[in-house]
This record gives sequence, C-alpha cells and structure tokens, in this order.
Amino acid sequence: MNTTTILEAMKWRYATKIYDSSKAVSEEDLHTILEAGRLSPSVYGLEPWEFIVVKNPELRTKLRAAAYDQPKVTDATYLIVIATRTDTTNVVNELIERTAKNQGKTVEDLKGFSDMVHGTASQYGDGAKEWLMRQTYIPLGVMIETAALMSIDSGPMEGFNSDQVDEILGLKEKNLRATTMLALGYRGDDAYAKLPKTRKSADEAITIVN
Ligand SMILES: Cc1cc2nc3c(=O)[nH]c(=O)nc-3n(C[C@H](O)[C@H](O)[C@H](O)COP(=O)(O)O)c2cc1C
Repeated sequence: MNTTTILEAMKWRYATKIYDSSKAVSEEDLHTILEAGRLSPSVYGLEPWEFIVVKNPELRTKLRAAAYDQPKVTDATYLIVIATRTDTTNVVNELIERTAKNQGKTVEDLKGFSDMVHGTASQYGDGAKEWLMRQTYIPLGVMIETAALMSIDSGPMEGFNSDQVDEILGLKEKNLRATTMLALGYRGDDAYAKLPKTRKSADEAITIVN
C-alpha cells in the first residue's frame, strides 16, 4: 500500500454520525476490523479489553438511549462496545499464563516478568484501572484506521453513560467496564461529511528535535 493511499484514507474518514442503514458492511470485513483490533499492542501485552459486537436490535435501542440518543448506535451496520477489564490482578495473571503457554514455558519460568508486571500494577494503586483503560484506546484507533483503509465508515463514541451500558450488557459481573463504542457502516446523508477537516497544521502538531 502506498503512502498516498494511506493518507487519502485518513483524510476521507471522519467521525460518521449518520449511516445508510440500507448498506451493510460484510461479516468478512467486520472480522478483518476486529482482528486488527485484537492484534493491537498494549502495555506489557496485557490486552485488558473485550470487544462486544452488539447485533441484537432491542439491546441496540436500549444502548442508544444510554448514548444520548446518538442515531449511529442503532443505524450503523455494527456496534462494537470496547470494554476494559476491571480485575487488574487477574488480567496480569492471565497475561503470564498466556505467555507461558505460547512460549512453551511454565508460569514459574516467568516469575521475574510476573513480579515486574504485578509490581507496576501495584505502583499505580488506585490508578491501575485508568492505566488499563488507556490501553483500550489503541484498538479503538487501530479499528478506525483499518476501517478507513477499507473504505468503511466508523464513529467512535465516548458520549454514553457507562453505568447504564454496563447494566444493559451485564458487564459488571464479568469484571468489565464499557469505555468506548465504535459504530461501523457506510455514511448516509450526513452534513458532517461535507465539513472541512479541522486539524492542527503539521508545524503545530509535530516537533522535530535534531
Ligand atoms: C474517544 C473518542 C470519543 C468520541 N466520542 C464521540 C461521541 O460520543 N459522539 C460523536 O458524535 N463523536 C465522537 N467522537 C468523534 C470526534 O468528535 C471526532 O473524531 C473529532 O471531532 C475529529 O473529527 P473527525 O474524526 O471527523 O476527523 C469521538 C472521538 C473519539 C476519538
């Protein structure tokens, strides 16, 4: 893929508000976007997230009400809720188990790594949940950009009541907290599509230190 294609896609994309509900993103394309999210990096490789694809129309209607009635919650082809794990110790333990299994080692072999990751988590103290939450913005961004490269529109959302979304999807009992949502679909008659892109200039955003 050449750089012009990449930058054209980044300029083409915008946070799509209105979707054409007569045009559907394929399951195959959804799979590609989710895989890009799953393959995202995270601190220590903790992957403290779960991607919940809500297909059930009644649940999407309830989620829309919890998201200040944003039409994209119901009208986009797919709605992905990105949730953060809240049980930090388990998240670290699972990383160690996953890594040991993947590398053909025992959990004991990875004691040094385990102590380091648990140590960092405990240094964060009450901030550990926030630390994990920050990681979930990485797959959010990766999925937005992957969709754009596939000419698929997306709409990231923080504008919702997390307590209500957790309740609707039963997330609390799974040690999850709804953090962001991502609508995927094709743009409809959306006034926002016609607005010029507002961005800092490269000079404002980038500093080169020689
Ligand atoms: C984490 C995050 C949360 C956002 N939440 C909302 C939202 O709830 N509703 C909405 O319409 N746009 C939301 N946006 C879209 C931003 O307003 C938009 O990305 C920004 O204004 C830049 O415009 P552009 O993405 O169209 O280029 C969100 C974007 C991000 C990255």
